[in-house]
Amino acid sequence: MLKPTPKNEEIELDPKRYIVSETDEKGRITFANDYFKEVSGYSDEELIGKPHNIVRHPDMPKVVFKLLWETIKQGKNINAVVKNLAKDGRYYWIFTEFEIRRDTDTGDIIGYHAARKTISKHVIEIISDLYTKLLDIEKSQGVEASEKYLIEFLKDKGSDIEFSNIMEEIHRFY
Ligand SMILES: Cc1cc2nc3c(=O)[nH]c(=O)nc-3n(C[C@H](O)[C@H](O)[C@H](O)COP(=O)(O)O)c2cc1C
Repeated sequence: MLKPTPKNEEIELDPKRYIVSETDEKGRITFANDYFKEVSGYSDEELIGKPHNIVRHPDMPKVVFKLLWETIKQGKNINAVVKNLAKDGRYYWIFTEFEIRRDTDTGDIIGYHAARKTISKHVIEIISDLYTKLLDIEKSQGVEASEKYLIEFLKDKGSDIEFSNIMEEIHRFY
């Protein structure tokens, strides 16, 4: 499917509503709640069975998704600040809590669950500066270099933390 052309226009989100989706273990969408569809502009027919990168915004650095997948594949939950792209090209920033879905009998990972809510303008400013920097580094030097930069960034903030908590920590700092 053709990707929408990004517009420099933000979607105003309702702070009381969660944007929820679920995927299988490969990241293909199995469920989207009404608010997900309302904000993204996609219907069930356009979403179900599709890779979740359908809402990926080109401003998002690869390293964030690298960390996300490394963490959830190990069965660990993670939080991440994400900028998403709606069907009409507008964008929305959200704080996302990713959780593991397991088979109740076997305990195997059967997929993932994501619940998203709004974040403060202040956090968005800081994170968007950080992501711009990470994206620049990725373009010139690759993902390994941006990962290194991210670790240093967190160390500078006086934090000695695990990768899996990176986003939560960023969120907590400010
Ligand atoms: C439950 C779940 C929810 C996700 N939600 C988003 C999302 O809202 N936006 C997004 O860009 N990627 C999301 N992803 C990550 C995508 O699967 C994908 O890794 C990302 O969009 C980067 O695309 P790429 O892997 O094709 O580079 C989600 C993944 C999972 C497992």
